[in-house]
Amino acid sequence: NEDPADQVQRIAAIKADFGDDLFLVAHHYQKDEVVQFADARGDSLKLAQIAASNHAAKHIVFCGVHFMAETADILTTAQQHVVLPDPMAGCSMADMANPFQLTQAWQALTARYGDTILPVTYVNSSAAIKAFVGRHGGVVVTSSNAGAIVSWALKQAKHLLFLPDQYLGRNTALALGIPKTEIGMWLAQQNHLEATDPDNLRVILWNGYCSVHQQFNTTQIDHLRQTYPDVKIIVHPECHQDVVAAADEVGSTAAIINYIKAAPKGARIAVGTDNNLVGRLIHTYADKKIMFLNPHSCACILMNRIDLPHLAWTMDQLAAGDSGHEIKVDADTAFWAKKALDRMLELS
Ligand code: 13P
Ligand code: SF4
Repeated sequence: NEDPADQVQRIAAIKADFGDDLFLVAHHYQKDEVVQFADARGDSLKLAQIAASNHAAKHIVFCGVHFMAETADILTTAQQHVVLPDPMAGCSMADMANPFQLTQAWQALTARYGDTILPVTYVNSSAAIKAFVGRHGGVVVTSSNAGAIVSWALKQAKHLLFLPDQYLGRNTALALGIPKTEIGMWLAQQNHLEATDPDNLRVILWNGYCSVHQQFNTTQIDHLRQTYPDVKIIVHPECHQDVVAAADEVGSTAAIINYIKAAPKGARIAVGTDNNLVGRLIHTYADKKIMFLNPHSCACILMNRIDLPHLAWTMDQLAAGDSGHEIKVDADTAFWAKKALDRMLELS
């Protein structure tokens, strides 16, 4: 029941006391009440790059979701501590692939393809999944480098298993010119490969998805285009392939921000991604007509778990010499996951 103004003041004061020993990072989907304290904001790639390069701050307060904090822990040094203000801030898509399912899938797929298949995981996956991928010579991608890295991976192996987001995987493969007939799907819950011609598959998708980005559809796009013939539409690549095909642009959260920044004054742009980010863009670029593609319910409830009370509690813990909700990946998992992450960072 504490007054939010007191929490704001306390967070700022504790942060100032720590100085360079504390670095607070926030993903673009975080609420304004959290973003106001960020030393750096970014998409998943930028946040991983910050973790890989900022080895000075003792405490990294990570305002984002669990897989991002795990990635930060893997890429920082043993002397640094990564703290997630609410450990319940997960990612429902990342939870759609676990090592048990992946081991089963890999057994079946390597029985068919031998060593001509390589695993590629979206960064929205657990450290354990990244470690599996690292152990098998694979690589991590984010929404901003998926095209370049999948293209590289297709030169290393005839077949790819792309997990967990079927939509980022399909949108990336289609953009690289891979025909639909060469894109199959691994149905993890049924242990079944869905494909008409399995031997000719180039990309095998895991059947995961983001529940937030499933809430955009082509009816919304058609309606907006009828109402505002001048509207431009930009969406995140986690959207359905029909939505991506109907949009004018597709890109990561950072690419969406850059697109809007570069648009001329008065431009009308509808954005298909999490509403915290779109709401901030509407306020920041008030001289442009920025709109929600779906104004109703496109909020990532997991990102939203990080709020002022959780952040204030975390800062209190750190000020008292406690660790708060520290995210620590065990050494063996971190070692192998880092292989897959380092491969991505070298290729980015
Ligand atoms: P970005 O890497 O584009 O910021 O995406 C992260 C994410 O979780 C989107 O749902
Ligand atoms: Fe995960 Fe979707 Fe939330 Fe991104 S928006 S963190 S993919 S649940």
